[in-house]
Amino acid sequence: MAEELIISTSTDKQQRYETLVLQIEALVSGEPDVVANLSNIAAALKQTMNYFWVGFYLVKDSPMPIGRQELVLGPFQGPIACTRIGLGKGVCGTSWKEKRTIIVPNVDEFPGHIACSSASKSEIVLPAFKNNEVFLVLDVDSDKLNDFDEVDEKYLEEVMRIIERFI
Ligand code: SME
Repeated sequence: MAEELIISTSTDKQQRYETLVLQIEALVSGEPDVVANLSNIAAALKQTMNYFWVGFYLVKDSPMPIGRQELVLGPFQGPIACTRIGLGKGVCGTSWKEKRTIIVPNVDEFPGHIACSSASKSEIVLPAFKNNEVFLVLDVDSDKLNDFDEVDEKYLEEVMRIIERFI
């Protein structure tokens, strides 16, 4: 495992992602523990991209009612956040329900957006799959409007495919 993260000083987002994704591969190689790997991935994303908030919500069984599932907060970097999100609720719950990546340029215009922080202005959420079911979502929040585009989507999708190898 890499002991120190090399952070590209490039102002080009694509260049920073290129350097990051290669290191994420190295960071998780040989380590099977899901929490350890997700923790390091959240930290590496935060350190490199300096997002306002970045973290994972994992699909887990609800304590009540029996048989229902919900998203539960996992490893993250940033201010404290909501711990549980229902299927179809907010951007994360919608990404889970619809099994797709969602980019929200302005969270105030997303019906049902869950505001963990009023500072969050735009957001991208991506699912990772195990046996064709959503196992977790990655949620990235920015304090700037319209901060995510197809470059973020491309490289964060690559990170999700790396995650699918150890979940
Ligand atoms: N805004 C998200 C909730 C999670 S926090 O932003 C960390 C949503 O609408 O699903």
